[in-house]
Amino acid sequence: MCGIVGILGKSAVAEKVVESLRRLEYRGYDSAGVATLEHGRLEVCRAEGKLKNLEHKLDKHPMGGHSGIGHTRWATHGKPSERNAHPHATKRVAVVHNGIIENFRELKTELEAEGVVFRSDTDTEVVAQLVDRQMLAGKSPVAAVAEVLPRLKGAFALAFLFDREADLMIAARRGSPLAIGYGDGEMFLGSDAIALGPFTDRISYLEEGDWAVLTREGVEVRDESGRIVERPIQKVPAGALLVDKGNHRHFMAKEIYEQPEVIAHTFSHYLDLSAETVALPDLPFDLAEIQHISITACGTALYAGAVAEYWLERFARVPVSTDIASEFRYRETPLTPGGLTIVISQSGETADTLASLRYAKECGQKVLAVVNVPTSTIAREADAVLPILAGPEIGVASTKAFTCQLATLACLSVAIGRAKGLLSQEDEHRLVRAFMEVPRLMTEALKLSPEIEVLSRTLAKARDVLYLGRGTNFPLALEGALKLKEISYIHAEGYAGGELKHGPIALIDETMPVVVIAPHDRIFDKTVSNMEEVAARGGKIILVTDPKGAAQAHVDAVQKLILPEMPATVCPMVYSIPVQLIAYHTAVIMGTDVDQPRNLAKSVTVE
Ligand code: AGP
Repeated sequence: MCGIVGILGKSAVAEKVVESLRRLEYRGYDSAGVATLEHGRLEVCRAEGKLKNLEHKLDKHPMGGHSGIGHTRWATHGKPSERNAHPHATKRVAVVHNGIIENFRELKTELEAEGVVFRSDTDTEVVAQLVDRQMLAGKSPVAAVAEVLPRLKGAFALAFLFDREADLMIAARRGSPLAIGYGDGEMFLGSDAIALGPFTDRISYLEEGDWAVLTREGVEVRDESGRIVERPIQKVPAGALLVDKGNHRHFMAKEIYEQPEVIAHTFSHYLDLSAETVALPDLPFDLAEIQHISITACGTALYAGAVAEYWLERFARVPVSTDIASEFRYRETPLTPGGLTIVISQSGETADTLASLRYAKECGQKVLAVVNVPTSTIAREADAVLPILAGPEIGVASTKAFTCQLATLACLSVAIGRAKGLLSQEDEHRLVRAFMEVPRLMTEALKLSPEIEVLSRTLAKARDVLYLGRGTNFPLALEGALKLKEISYIHAEGYAGGELKHGPIALIDETMPVVVIAPHDRIFDKTVSNMEEVAARGGKIILVTDPKGAAQAHVDAVQKLILPEMPATVCPMVYSIPVQLIAYHTAVIMGTDVDQPRNLAKSVTVE
């Protein structure tokens, strides 16, 4: 995740911007930079590596100016380097950016055709050039940004400074959070409240689609329809935890809403977005030589592995066996020496998963750990690690870690398929382009939250809930049932749709809500049959689908949650959003302790 900071100050701001960036270091980065406005002119200073390199440059060439923006960059488009570091600036505008501009290539081509010469490989520079072109045509900075924002596709946060505009900063939020800080005759902007802690405790948060025009007098916020809106100012305790809830009621909610941003970060780590290829770090084994894969984990991590089993078998044509770690460690499964075992764990400390790792190593397996904590025991004992980069996950119910595990495993599956020559370069480009859409699709899925809050009132009255899914939506049905039961304490079960008639249909009556997770696909008519069987017995159905599925599902008593059309491969990541929100809203209605559910620990470090 990149970090964004902006200050309209009463004195020189460069050092304050760097101080604020330091508070965002926890997000991870590989370069940094500052832009200030001095005597009406934009000045930029950038450095590869850590903030101390930027500070060394500023020591040598101090920057004046009472307006400034700053950025810590985690490389997405273009490798970590000074030329790719933010801010990106023209004579008229400087911009910093967090997230992915999906359509940057076509916009860049359009600009190059007009003679624009780019100096970086980033998608961000395209935004600067687009705004510059509008200003060159005579538009004001506000009108120029208003013209450009609708042309950008993707999930991002942006902050702008303009030459000769000493009292103006513009910010935009679409998929990546932005906080606004209120000072005494000063205004601040940051990726979260932590960055603004040194300057103010009066914070408001931009909502999805908002963009804001800041002056030292205050801020004017417009929503995505252009309407002027108010965003409440709240007092954030100066000693807020390093990881705060932002403007959410629970950590779980914050982590659900963080997913567009963090998954963009994960994908940018494992993909070369410019080349549209997968770019895994070097691993101590040859992906082309893998003949069998064992996957083992617990809980939500296990369900991520169960989804990956479909991808690995489809793209890499490698037989995969997925097993619960507490079974795997005792079953004494015969493992082919030289085979690959993948252990998945958010905490990297789960006892059963760690024991399974050790068993696999005793059997001569190459062990690959997919973890969120690269310094954890599992990470240290594995032969190789693929960090999921979800950032600290505080809520006991795993959400962003799950989707970042899926993102990481999806990239691994494509990498193995390519290494084995089973995926063409065009296949790889097509899949990577699909992955690049996920942050925006997740942002769209999050808009279902109000609808889900309403239907959760019915679920909150249920004693039991059944989740059904087919293909990669079957593990998602298991995950949905786990999410619901662990935070709302309502019993829930996940089943493969095709299993309904082999027993669970005996449970169906008007008291039994059934959540069907089913984007339209080649076997959707089988799912329609499942729903008809449920409806015929009075069951209440919640169908999570897309427009095509909604149109085909002519079944009574169906409430539909409709997500955008999307490539089948990315459905498990995007459909996780409504699955998580159903559990979250139901638990809130039930009044349970959403972040710390009874009897549960965030990491089960004992058997
Ligand atoms: C997930 O919501 C649960 N809290 C739990 O199932 C968890 O996924 C499981 O304990 C595994 O934890 P790990 O990923 O840290 O190994």
